[in-house]
Amino acid sequence: MTYDDLRSRIEEIIDPGFNLPFKEVNGIKKLVVGPTGVAELEIYLKDRVKYEQQVKIQIIRLVKIELGFPGIKIDFFESEFVPKGQKAIKYLAVASGKGGVGKSTVAANLAAAMVREGKKVAIIDADIYGASIPYVLSLDVKPLKATADEKMIPLSKDGIEVISTEFFMPPEKPVMWRGPMLGKLLTHFFNGVQWQEGIDLIIIDLPPGTGDVALDIKTYVPLSKVIIVTTPHTNASSIAVKAGLGAQQLGHEVIGVVENMSYYYNTCNQKREFIFGSGGGEIVAKKLGTTLLGQVPIGQPQSGEYLYTGSEEAGKIYNSIAVKLIKELDL
Ligand SMILES: Nc1ncnc2c1ncn2[C@@H]1O[C@H](COP(=O)(O)OP(=O)(O)O)[C@@H](O)[C@H]1O
Ligand SMILES: [Mg+2]
Repeated sequence: MTYDDLRSRIEEIIDPGFNLPFKEVNGIKKLVVGPTGVAELEIYLKDRVKYEQQVKIQIIRLVKIELGFPGIKIDFFESEFVPKGQKAIKYLAVASGKGGVGKSTVAANLAAAMVREGKKVAIIDADIYGASIPYVLSLDVKPLKATADEKMIPLSKDGIEVISTEFFMPPEKPVMWRGPMLGKLLTHFFNGVQWQEGIDLIIIDLPPGTGDVALDIKTYVPLSKVIIVTTPHTNASSIAVKAGLGAQQLGHEVIGVVENMSYYYNTCNQKREFIFGSGGGEIVAKKLGTTLLGQVPIGQPQSGEYLYTGSEEAGKIYNSIAVKLIKELDL
């Protein structure tokens, strides 16, 4: 049994999510046989959580029992393969390190700005500690409907589709999402939703923090890019740097920084007042080797609505950030 034989036998195994053999869906990312004969594998599987167990048994049976290898170690990841003729869904995660800096506000206003630019956009509200996208969008929360093949149909507001942990919480009761329950919920968010036809981008509102829960969306969406939101204050920016470095360590590309609550525009003297200090966004961008996409001033939407419109100052800034992101993400 040579290495090539082993490889070709594993390549014949079907990825049940695609119903195609691993060879055709680029399913084997790593296959090495160690000095003691133990085979080490990295398998990229569609709908990993659903099919991992079944495929694992199949591979172990083949490699250990049928082919007689003394041991096997397999790690599974979500597949990155896109079948011909299909468009890959692109993801952009919004991270901050610290809560209260305006991560959800930025996520929602960026989504709105992209819709103004003619893009089809959705938000996955994955902030398990404080889901706020439904509130930021003033979304009327109703029970979700499902398609015939049991995919959830997201709710929608102003052309922005939304799936939120908030939809699965009993009202006014805290729910601790953790462990397997959290994993299941997120799997449904990333694999079990019927988004609109031809969707261009899904923005992910991550929980605050610099650890695993916050940043390790890699097992769900391997190719998600990340933007970091910070305030100009050094306190927020130092934690934002940590969040960015954490994301980079996990293999996500950080494509920019948004500085929020950058200044207050004083209409009495037409001056910008830097209430929360200045320079935080620039520092974060520099330390992460990325660019500062924009600086959003302090203020509430003037229209009295929940989001900034494209004609007010902050809305124009969101538009310019959206245009940069559309270019960077090739939407
Ligand atoms: N540029 C801003 N000017 C004024 N208030 C803001 C601004 N950005 C966010 N806020 C407010 O700050 C609070 C926290 O924002 P939020 O988006 O919920 O932060 P996070 O998601 O990071 O916890 C909210 O009440 C929000 O309305
Ligand atoms: Mg939030």
